[in-house]
Amino acid sequence: MDFQSTTTFEKDHVEETLHNLLPPLGILHVSESTSTNRDLMTMAETDAPAWTVLVSDRQTEGRGRRSRPWASPEGGLYFSTLLKLPRDKSPITLVPLTVGLALAEGLYEIAAEQGEELSLQLKWPNDLLSSNGKLAGILCETALTDSHWLVVAGVGINIRPLGPDIRKSVQANTPTSLMEECDIEWTREAVLIAFLRRLKERLDQWETDPAIIRTDWTAISGLMGKRIRVRAGKEPIFGIAEGINDNGALKIRTEEGSIEINAAEGIEVHE
Ligand code: BTN
Repeated sequence: MDFQSTTTFEKDHVEETLHNLLPPLGILHVSESTSTNRDLMTMAETDAPAWTVLVSDRQTEGRGRRSRPWASPEGGLYFSTLLKLPRDKSPITLVPLTVGLALAEGLYEIAAEQGEELSLQLKWPNDLLSSNGKLAGILCETALTDSHWLVVAGVGINIRPLGPDIRKSVQANTPTSLMEECDIEWTREAVLIAFLRRLKERLDQWETDPAIIRTDWTAISGLMGKRIRVRAGKEPIFGIAEGINDNGALKIRTEEGSIEINAAEGIEVHE
């Protein structure tokens, strides 16, 4: 891994700002990583502490959900956070939704501080969309140890508009960026600070009262009551989104009855 960087990133500022709010943070900033999720999982295996955060200016093999690539040119924020969470508390499958909620709230907060409003939607399980397209994606990868869950929570956010070549290569969703959606000052440091602060609060709730996570996630998703198509098996399934169960699975009412789908499956919304 290359620990040099060409793009300025004030990691000391992030660490100092969060000093009293989080357990000791270890922020590593590199100019290039194949994938911050992959590199941080390797560090976790050699005992990196919880709340190690790896930020990279670009990724050469950024990974998305469902084995998709994640385009990661300079100008975006790509980072992964190492979490060590208790095994026997709340369902680990609710953590990706918790991360998405913290990210949405962190971005709302930055816009509000500058007197603007940002319109966001959480698309189950954890895409962050605006009405013009996809702003950010989250990939949580987990491993179970004897004492706890290791979670590498990876976040990729388009801060500046993606160039035309990259736009064409992103097939899943039309991409958009924070600057296109809300014309204020977006710095990687401010986004990381706001997100990590919210993440700590929301993970504490995940541990003690996970129902709050489901309720607040649902409020931002705008998904409930919408007709959706599930991409599962050969035949798509259609139904109406009804809610999130205790494990973070999506409950859907179909003509044959209610079903629950897990995060490995994809959905599309039909307005
Ligand atoms: C998705 O929407 O499919 C999830 C995208 C997750 C991308 C982030 S960028 C930082 C971290 N490292 C990776 O390789 N992927 C995640």
